[in-house]
Amino acid sequence: MLELKKLTKTYATGDQALKAVEVEIPAGQVLALIGPSGAGKSTLIRCINRLVEPTSGSVILNGENITKLSSSGLRRARRTMGMIFQEYALVERLTVMENVLSGRLGYVGFWRAFLRKYPQSDIDEAYRLLDRVGLLAMADKRADELSGGQRQRVGIARALIQDPKLLLVDEPTASLDPKTSRQIMRLICELCAERGLAAIINIHDVALAQMFVQRVIGLQLGAVQFDGPPDGLTPEVLTAIYGEEDWQATIEEVDEDDLENESAAA
Ligand SMILES: Nc1ncnc2c1ncn2[C@@H]1O[C@H](COP(=O)(O)OP(=O)(O)OP(=O)(O)O)[C@@H](O)[C@H]1O
Ligand SMILES: [Mg+2]
Repeated sequence: MLELKKLTKTYATGDQALKAVEVEIPAGQVLALIGPSGAGKSTLIRCINRLVEPTSGSVILNGENITKLSSSGLRRARRTMGMIFQEYALVERLTVMENVLSGRLGYVGFWRAFLRKYPQSDIDEAYRLLDRVGLLAMADKRADELSGGQRQRVGIARALIQDPKLLLVDEPTASLDPKTSRQIMRLICELCAERGLAAIINIHDVALAQMFVQRVIGLQLGAVQFDGPPDGLTPEVLTAIYGEEDWQATIEEVDEDDLENESAAA
């Protein structure tokens, strides 16, 4: 379970990116974090693993206060938090397999990873994960030969080989076409369910979020504006988070997409 208590971040520039955010996420829960550009979504995710240092407040993961850890404690704790990025952050010249194995860096130590001498058990697990994300045939391809959707699948496998307890996902579909976006969101949510993994998924696309998660948090100017099930995102709530728009059109579009999805699955 993850608890954020009065989590606050003020950047050196004076930008108040997070204002006393209070959130509790039970083990295994997948939630979407929505909100306009600049609302603080990336800052929130990055404060959890302290890629960004919170100004005050605390992050407690399974009873451990992450905000108080020394650098070695933090290194250990970060192994339990997998990250998936919009821009994939793959090493272009390395193969798919090597990129996935790099997720074990936190365990095997720098030199072993540098010399690419991973234990056989890691290699076996990498093959299993590549199979699960649908990339087994591409294990030896270079990362720069892949499509966006394939790159994100590598990013997912790399996060999972860490064997995390929590996934932090920042705009996983922002660089992908609508159909691929849906496949990637579905894959992430299915994997979380299979593994009992909790996840926070930052996502711009409200309709996509509504399709896949049970809980949505809406951030606006660094504060929580909404916390509830996706069907609680009424036009009024969306206006409170994003400002005036024709939300009814967005909501109807989701309904149609769902129908289309169901008929495709049948
Ligand atoms: N390194 C930084 N230094 C100073 N201010 C920053 C920094 N990173 C973010 N900010 C500011 O903090 C606020 C929140 O930014 P953040 O990137 O967390 O928003 P976001 O919700 O992820 O936006 P987007 O949807 O565009 O990715 C913004 O006002 C932004 O300008
Ligand atoms: Mg962001």
